[in-house]
Amino acid sequence: MDIPEKLIEILKKAKKVAMLTGAGVSAESGIKTFRDPDGLWTKFNPAELASIDGFMSNPKLVWEWYQHRRAIVFDAKPNPGHFAIAEMQNLFDKFTLITQNVDRLHQTAGATNVLELHGNIIDNRCLDCNRNFEGETSLADKFVPRCTHCGGLIRPCVVWFGEMLPEEAFKQSELAAMHCDVFFSVGTSGEVYPAAGLPFIAQNYGAKIVEVNPNHTSVSNSMDFVLRGTSSHVLPLIVEKLKN
Ligand code: APR
Ligand code: ZN
Repeated sequence: MDIPEKLIEILKKAKKVAMLTGAGVSAESGIKTFRDPDGLWTKFNPAELASIDGFMSNPKLVWEWYQHRRAIVFDAKPNPGHFAIAEMQNLFDKFTLITQNVDRLHQTAGATNVLELHGNIIDNRCLDCNRNFEGETSLADKFVPRCTHCGGLIRPCVVWFGEMLPEEAFKQSELAAMHCDVFFSVGTSGEVYPAAGLPFIAQNYGAKIVEVNPNHTSVSNSMDFVLRGTSSHVLPLIVEKLKN
């Protein structure tokens, strides 16, 4: 695939860049996306598994599902797309990385100051007193661990449907969108707000917006540039051109 010369020209002049990533960036690390044909939401009901009501009605099922997803994340390695993004952070005066992903592969690949809008699947906390939980998570008979402080149920530190996004992370993301010259939307279907609204905030404030995705999405038609390819193929190409 060819990267438009015009985009490289704009990027070479850009001082501030922001990037929103979604599950597609981790697809080539073996972590399933949500809405692709073989995605998680085609097999499981998100309301049942990724919501507070779902957890309260069946804590053991939800806990086991997150343990299963955690095991996949622990085995996963960053792919060339993650490494290219980490490298892009050093190619601009300011590069803000905003992710919807909970797998922390951006950090494993060396990215810093990652704004995690949907939390992370690695850490756990008490549902009642909100304390971090560092205790044993794989209990016999797959019981859900209990808080050592108040006995409350332990839950993963992901943001569930219907829950508020981390305030500071979203505020920083909005500011980055408002002040950037170029905003990338990489590996996301653009279906879940408020994250999906960030490229439009950027465009309203004068940024050029770019999609990197092998498939058409609900935000493709609004993009200034659409790079129809995988993140692990497209992003290293961009980095290469910027470095030459
Ligand atoms: N490179 C880039 N994009 C890819 C790749 C790839 N190799 N493979 C798939 N994609 C694209 C798909 O075309 C799709 O548009 O990644 C996107 C994944 O979309 P979703 O599965 O909807 O994931 P995401 O956009 O991150 O979902 C947002 O929804 O369920 C919630 O909390 C969950 O953070 C998630 C949020
Ligand atoms: Zn507690």
